[in-house]
Amino acid sequence: MTQERHDWAESLDGLLEQAWKRLGRGVADRRAAARHPTLATVDTNGWPQVRTVVLRGADRAASQLRVYTDRKAGKVAELAAAPRASLHVWDQTAHLQIRVMAEAVIHTGTAVESIWSGLSAHAQRCYGFQPASGLAITDALDYAVWPQPEDFAVIELNVVYLEVLHLGHRHRRAGFDRSRDWAGQWVVP
Ligand SMILES: Cc1cc2nc3c(=O)[nH]c(=O)nc-3n(C[C@H](O)[C@H](O)[C@H](O)COP(=O)(O)O)c2cc1C
Repeated sequence: MTQERHDWAESLDGLLEQAWKRLGRGVADRRAAARHPTLATVDTNGWPQVRTVVLRGADRAASQLRVYTDRKAGKVAELAAAPRASLHVWDQTAHLQIRVMAEAVIHTGTAVESIWSGLSAHAQRCYGFQPASGLAITDALDYAVWPQPEDFAVIELNVVYLEVLHLGHRHRRAGFDRSRDWAGQWVVP
């Protein structure tokens, strides 16, 4: 543990601001820790499912995060059945763990056309697997990618609860609740 000062960790407001700052940095900077959060859903058998994603949007004013995906990916079906997701980031530079609980909304079709057309050809090739993502295949490369706008989905995550854990000389943990207008609450680490 470095001796770097993180004065922002001493107040609830400072922690919440820092958490959104780090999330925003993940969207803007491909080397930032929050670039690659873990997104958790629950599948139809009740198993938690986790996977790495790229954070594409973080809007504190709207309390919203955004992730892009293939419309046929398992996570989309899981969220359609149970539209609750959690997201996890460990930002080692800030000594900060961020945990988010969110209500998910899936956007496809014309609602995401402008985002799709703004993606590079390389980025578009992350979507449109044939056969569909998650299906069993005989050989490792028995698939193709035909990027199609109709195979693209945006997962909007409307944050309902955000929790941070700061590892310092004395650890600090706090939760922030949308239903309490983001008032913070200290929690035992
Ligand atoms: C570094 C990294 C970034 C990834 N980014 C995304 C992403 O932004 N969106 C996505 O759907 N999958 C992304 N993936 C792939 C997912 O982790 C996962 O393997 C895939 O989406 C299938 O997950 P699912 O079957 O649970 O839907 C990424 C994987 C890695 C390793």
